[in-house]
Amino acid sequence: MTVSVRRAVAADAGELARLRHLSLTCPVTPWTKPRAVPTGPWVKECEEAIASLLRDPNKAAAFVVDAGAGRMAACAMGLLLPRLPGPDSGKPFNGDISTVATDPEFRRRGYARATVTALMDWMAACGCKRLSLASSPEGEPLYTSLGFSRDAPRMSWRVR
Ligand SMILES: CC(C)(COP(=O)(O)OP(=O)(O)OC[C@H]1O[C@@H](n2cnc3c(N)ncnc32)[C@H](O)[C@@H]1OP(=O)(O)O)[C@@H](O)C(=O)NCCC(=O)NCCS
Repeated sequence: MTVSVRRAVAADAGELARLRHLSLTCPVTPWTKPRAVPTGPWVKECEEAIASLLRDPNKAAAFVVDAGAGRMAACAMGLLLPRLPGPDSGKPFNGDISTVATDPEFRRRGYARATVTALMDWMAACGCKRLSLASSPEGEPLYTSLGFSRDAPRMSWRVR
């Protein structure tokens, strides 16, 4: 069955922030009860940040599956990160995939696969060289099946 995916607009920011909150509840052990993630001012701040990003079609995109009027079943969102040309590629961006979530009642219908694939196609068409994400245990089988792999020797550092 074909999944109906559309590109989100700034007015979708509230539902995208709700699904971002949901995406952070993924359990440490796959397929167990989600852990509690507190709501708070960050959810509204997140909604405003998403709305602002989606107003510029050249900075970020979210692809979504609708569940009904005003409600989303699934989403995948990502940002274009400028990169400098190198000897092997002059592509202008790397892609950062940041929010992938499906509401529990809509899982295992191919919605995450459809939204992530649409986002990957958009990022490739925009001139991304590399797409990256921080996977949850639940997301890993999906990303592996789409061709993502561990990316050593890349390292990261968290600002405290
Ligand atoms: C991970 C998540 C986005 C998958 O959403 P989904 O819409 O159910 O995923 P899909 O139906 O597109 O399934 C994609 C693949 O994921 C894997 N998968 C998804 N649910 C699974 C389950 N319960 N058991 C085993 N594999 C599963 C399978 O490989 C599946 O492909 P297949 O159906 O062809 O076998 C969803 O479970 C979720 O929102 N989890 C909490 C948030 C999260 O972890 N997000 C990812 C952050 S990186």
